[in-house]
Amino acid sequence: MELTHRYRRTRRNDAIRGLVRETGLSVRDLIYPMFVVEGSGVKREISTMPDNYHVSIDMLVRECETLASLGIPAVNLFGYCEDKDLKGTSSYNDEGLIQRAVRALKKEVPDIYVQTDIALDPYTTTGHDGIVVGDEIVNDETVEVLCKMAVSHARAGVDMVSPSDMMDGRVGAIRDALDEAGFEQTAIMSYSAKYASCFYGPFRGALDSAPRRGDKKTYQMDPANSNEAVKEILMDVEEGADVVMVKPALAYLDIIYKVREHLDVPLAAYHVSGEYGQIMAAAEKGWLDKERAMIESTLAIKRAGADMILTYFAPALARYLRDHPF
Ligand code: PBG
Repeated sequence: MELTHRYRRTRRNDAIRGLVRETGLSVRDLIYPMFVVEGSGVKREISTMPDNYHVSIDMLVRECETLASLGIPAVNLFGYCEDKDLKGTSSYNDEGLIQRAVRALKKEVPDIYVQTDIALDPYTTTGHDGIVVGDEIVNDETVEVLCKMAVSHARAGVDMVSPSDMMDGRVGAIRDALDEAGFEQTAIMSYSAKYASCFYGPFRGALDSAPRRGDKKTYQMDPANSNEAVKEILMDVEEGADVVMVKPALAYLDIIYKVREHLDVPLAAYHVSGEYGQIMAAAEKGWLDKERAMIESTLAIKRAGADMILTYFAPALARYLRDHPF
């Protein structure tokens, strides 16, 4: 055959494949979500999320030392709250679990960048991200609590707060509250386009945070929508988000791509618990090669346009990338 282009020429060996590779993957792109519990010496595997753990603060510090030595730049903390009430008041207790965890981490492992989740679902008896009045998840009253929560985390020394609640106007309100309290340097990563997804199942098991009644469709986005994601992201950028996020990641690669095309803002994607679980469960059955599925999935999220990825694979990826630079 007389062919001008033979694309296989640039696939012949590792060296040339590496040279023409369009997308890179680095440990610097990774944020590791972690689950903090009360107690000491606790490191307990989460049954719905293999290789991920409930850790008490002392063990969190030890884990983060290891993560930092692997080059992982950031962690995103979720707290397991035992003291739930209707309005999630434990969320802004300066002596609360997350506040203590942040103080310990900033003191003991100053190099790791600490983010905290801002939402009420682990703190409310209803399991909703906001305050429930009748059948309604009330927006504005919830935003007031989220602001208190963010300021309380900032007082503890958090680097970045991550509102994951999907109330309207919360990014601007949190920005104002942080600034007024003197925390101009505390950053905001907004879960801007967060969909009402079934892929959060294992996470809700880990935090005992599933809604006790109803679902989250009045605040999280309809999986059928795509233009709306761009509007949500634009709104959060205007309100002062430093980083915006699309969540979940793998089932929403088109959204990541679209946002990237529209806007040049730092963009995160959350490879969520159920997406992680799909790979882990298939690997356990011997249907998938776990390591290759992990790399291919993370790469896809990067290729679609994400700058950074929240992933439960972060430690495994860091070890893999250390041994096989990409
Ligand atoms: C809660 C929150 C959820 C996740 C992150 N923050 C669950 C939800 O919205 O119900 C999901 C993360 C995951 O599944 O890995 N605001």
